[in-house]
Amino acid sequence: MLAEDKGLRFEVEVDRTLPVLVGDDEALTKVAVNLLSNAIKFTQQGHVILRLRRAADDLWQIEVEDSGIGIPPHAREYIFDEFRQVDQSSKRLYGGTGLGLAIVQKLARLMGGTVAVQSEVGRGSTFTVTLPLVRAGK
Ligand SMILES: Nc1ncnc2c1ncn2[C@@H]1O[C@H](COP(=O)(O)OP(=O)(O)OP(=O)(O)O)[C@@H](O)[C@H]1O
Ligand SMILES: [Mg+2]
Repeated sequence: MLAEDKGLRFEVEVDRTLPVLVGDDEALTKVAVNLLSNAIKFTQQGHVILRLRRAADDLWQIEVEDSGIGIPPHAREYIFDEFRQVDQSSKRLYGGTGLGLAIVQKLARLMGGTVAVQSEVGRGSTFTVTLPLVRAGK
């Protein structure tokens, strides 16, 4: 589902100090697409923001922030496990198999990075993938 169809404000913020990145395009795209599709799926109104930013001299981040339903504290660890979803009941409101975040975590680790989540129930969630910065020519 597209952010536009739900009337969500979609923003992209790219840090101008980021050097040209050399990375695994396919893996990076999968990470961003999975986080964005979750953000849109679990947000009924407000915004979804994609940020690409410098985190330190040798680190950068892909961050996806939404103003959606949020994730309760007890679920913040297991949502990264395969087939785990906050609502496991048969009457779940949202579709999906529970694989997106497992893929995001696996890819982040393969690239030498980490993924973290911050959230407030009813207010929104922010997923941050931190990756080593690989400069062209290195
Ligand atoms: N942005 C978010 N806001 C609220 N809950 C989220 C968000 N992202 C993930 N979750 C919770 O974490 C669970 C696991 O996410 P994951 O992407 O792994 O699976 P899915 O989206 O349910 O299915 P799939 O990604 O396989 O289509 C979701 O089902 C949902 O409960
Ligand atoms: Mg998903």
